[in-house]
Amino acid sequence: MTQSQGFATRAIHLGYNPMEHEGALTPPLHLTSTFSFETAEAGGEIFAGDRPGHIYSRISNPTLDLLERRVADLEGGEAGLALASGMGAITAILWTLLSPGDEVIVDKTLYGCTFAFMHHGLRKFGITITHVDLTNPDNLTAALNERTRVVYFETPANPNMRLVDITAVAAISHAGGAQVVVDNTYATPYLTKPIALGADLVLHSATKYLGGHGDLVAGVVVGRAGAVSEIRLVGMKDMTGAVMAPFNAMLILRGLKTLALRMERHCASAQVVAEWLGAHPEVANVHYPGLEGFGQHALARRQMALPGAMIAFELKGGLEAGRRMMNGLRMIARAVSLGDAETLIQHPASMTHSTYTPEERAMHGIGDGLIRLSVGLEDVADILNDLDDALTPQHVMRST
Ligand SMILES: Cc1ncc(COP(=O)(O)O)c(C=O)c1O
Repeated sequence: MTQSQGFATRAIHLGYNPMEHEGALTPPLHLTSTFSFETAEAGGEIFAGDRPGHIYSRISNPTLDLLERRVADLEGGEAGLALASGMGAITAILWTLLSPGDEVIVDKTLYGCTFAFMHHGLRKFGITITHVDLTNPDNLTAALNERTRVVYFETPANPNMRLVDITAVAAISHAGGAQVVVDNTYATPYLTKPIALGADLVLHSATKYLGGHGDLVAGVVVGRAGAVSEIRLVGMKDMTGAVMAPFNAMLILRGLKTLALRMERHCASAQVVAEWLGAHPEVANVHYPGLEGFGQHALARRQMALPGAMIAFELKGGLEAGRRMMNGLRMIARAVSLGDAETLIQHPASMTHSTYTPEERAMHGIGDGLIRLSVGLEDVADILNDLDDALTPQHVMRST
């Protein structure tokens, strides 16, 4: 399989030939913790890295290997690594790259557990966490210093949809000697390929769009072969042990087969929902890269093939209106996570970002009335009807 084939084709076929597996159309699931060696010498050579082969499934496994190669290819990177969760991916990367005394510069907005890991985890071990508004790359130029090892951000960011210009930030970071790590969970490689834009490492919560069906928790890292190998052997094998279960790798391989198809539908529906929300009298503000009024619309058009399927919006009635709306929903699930077939909705101030103090939330641009919507694959008319009934309670009273 070659790069000349399209994204959807590679997501289905890359790296697997049924004829090498008794004709089985679906790749085998290797449910094994350990691997036996033909001879002591062969085992020794595999341990020494002089012969390809697997040793133990906390290091590598053939089912994970196929997933790793497929995601690496879709992201345009040399190598991939499958981990137990998105947080496993983030922690394995940063434990590998950072040492006491180093600094990591992060955007003002981060997924709540990433923020907690940095502030309550990394900081305990003598690493400095500096928040910089990366929506203006000039801020990074001013902040970089000789201790900065890593510049880390999400784009779009969870939950308020801020975008970061990967090309500009990567150029500044590299000039200052820092590596760039991008959480590409919201966009997926179907929409944005950070490595082609200059990122050193890309990570995913594969729990989301890559898996796509809300039935697993998993993470993936992609980057240069040497860097990924170090994260495998240090951050994953020894420091976190956060290895992906082979069964989850099989489910993600299945999810990848429809990634292109799902993203097209997710994004088409999200555009309709975002425009509808923008015209709703109860809604003060909609943050969606596909809207012309979105502050970073031009960057979205440059950096994203499609504007994604995550929407953030603020209700005129703030916290109380948010609670009322959340409780008025009948189909849309009040739930964390995103990227599933089901439309999911959540309230960051009381859910994902509850580890921030109110002051920290305000500082990071997360209003108490902000609502996050992950637009699913249902008929868009049904998504709109549910939102409309919840936003306008008299509709529900009429229909019941
Ligand atoms: C942007 C982002 N990154 C990382 C994570 C963590 O991933 P996981 O829940 O798979 O550990 C999440 C989870 O919601 C997320 O939204």
